[in-house]
Amino acid sequence: MSRRAVNPARRFGDGASVPFGGSLHSKSRSSPLLSIGLVLVGAFLLIAYTYGGSGTFGVDRESIKADAGLPCTVEVQKAIPILKKVYADSMRKVLHVGPDTCSVVSKLLKEEDTEAWGVEPYDVEDVDATCKSLIRKGVVRVADIKSTLPYRAKSFSLVIVSDALDYLSPKYLNKTLPDLARLSMDGLVIFAGYPGQQRAKAAELPKFGRPAKLRSSSWWIRYFVQTGLEENEAAAKKFEMAISKKGYKPSCQVFHLGSYH
Ligand SMILES: *[C@@H]1O[C@H](CO)[C@@H](O)[C@H](O)[C@H]1NC(C)=O
Repeated sequence: MSRRAVNPARRFGDGASVPFGGSLHSKSRSSPLLSIGLVLVGAFLLIAYTYGGSGTFGVDRESIKADAGLPCTVEVQKAIPILKKVYADSMRKVLHVGPDTCSVVSKLLKEEDTEAWGVEPYDVEDVDATCKSLIRKGVVRVADIKSTLPYRAKSFSLVIVSDALDYLSPKYLNKTLPDLARLSMDGLVIFAGYPGQQRAKAAELPKFGRPAKLRSSSWWIRYFVQTGLEENEAAAKKFEMAISKKGYKPSCQVFHLGSYH
């Protein structure tokens, strides 16, 4: 048994050493090849660096914004017209939960027939006057979403959450997600980052408490099932149709869940 376990490692070791052994025996022949190889690798790195660099500094401003840590909240703003179409009457009383919620709430308040509230899960430092006023009026609250939120059950027709869940471990998700579902009458819309996306800058991390954990859609779906939350299939279908008609591709995963009954 133990011999079998050792064998693959040894074979791998032998294989890896072959090129070096070869070059030892024929030094003079392999070194020109080696230098050509190095030049090619160097040129490739230089090209990759140049093109990669221009992407970061000039062309792709949108992705810089995304890197700044709020892509899904920005995505919610973009999706408001579509959400209005999909949810119609259920957009009457909306609660948005997520960083920079003031931007979403301000935008929602400009819509006809929509009342909006917001929960800002993180410290607010330099917010603009509009946001300050929303907080003063109690329209936006700064609250830790790891604790029960200060609203009665079914206070809102729809609850939309962006980014915030990406910063919660499953232990807190278990508490927060049912609590968000408790607040809504007609459903819960979740905007979450895709795995591999870059989130908050290192300097901003203390604000979020921990680095974002971006989960795959299969992880989320399994999680929703475990938590007893069901997909709102009708809404999901309408949303898919509306975005494909508009040729709009959200840069975040969007999940449509039903409320508890
Ligand atoms: C979260 O809840 C699910 C389902 O109730 C449970 O299986 C899981 O162990 C919980 N996770 C944590 C970290 O508490």
